[in-house]
Amino acid sequence: MPSRLLLLPLALALGPLAPPPPAQAQTQASQASTVQPGTAPTAADDLLYRELGGRESIQAFTDDFYDRMLQDARIAHYFDGINMKYLKRVLADYFCVVAGGPCVYDGVGMKDAHAHLGIDRAAFNALVENLQLAMDAAGVPFGVQNRLLARMAFSHSDIITK
Ligand code: HEM
Repeated sequence: MPSRLLLLPLALALGPLAPPPPAQAQTQASQASTVQPGTAPTAADDLLYRELGGRESIQAFTDDFYDRMLQDARIAHYFDGINMKYLKRVLADYFCVVAGGPCVYDGVGMKDAHAHLGIDRAAFNALVENLQLAMDAAGVPFGVQNRLLARMAFSHSDIITK
């Protein structure tokens, strides 16, 4: 739905879309700390992880998400020559950790991983659109999607360098 997609950049910049998150989610966000510089905030509990359906479901929508990005002419070129198998795994671990799941993220910090890519806001927003489409296709409820996006919002200043 286009109007929803247009709101996504705002979701990342400002936090979750309406309806507002429950008090518990707000508490979690304010308690978030960084486990690796510029990488992933820790969550207070695994509620969001469970709502996303666990590690296997996260891997499934992450795989679909990357497949969609490779089909998206706005951003596909960023992934030329990249080891997609590795990227799909570490990104699913990243989402899992951000959501409070029992995973270990062993990838590179967000700043270092993206510094050489020259990512602008439009590319960032295109990526988020694809992530939402993949979560939609996987049946992840809208509110749950927004809470995951909100927890990733902290990283956009590390990723957008242009
Ligand atoms: C919140 C948004 C994003 C998150 C959470 C994210 C997450 C990640 C993670 C976890 C990695 C793996 C780091 C490693 O090598 O260990 C990675 C690498 C990468 N990301 Fe992102 N990313 C985001 C935005 C973007 C955007 C907007 C683009 C381009 C349109 C992008 C393109 C890439 C590429 C090409 C790599 C591989 C870099 C390399 O191996 O040289 N990412 N990202």
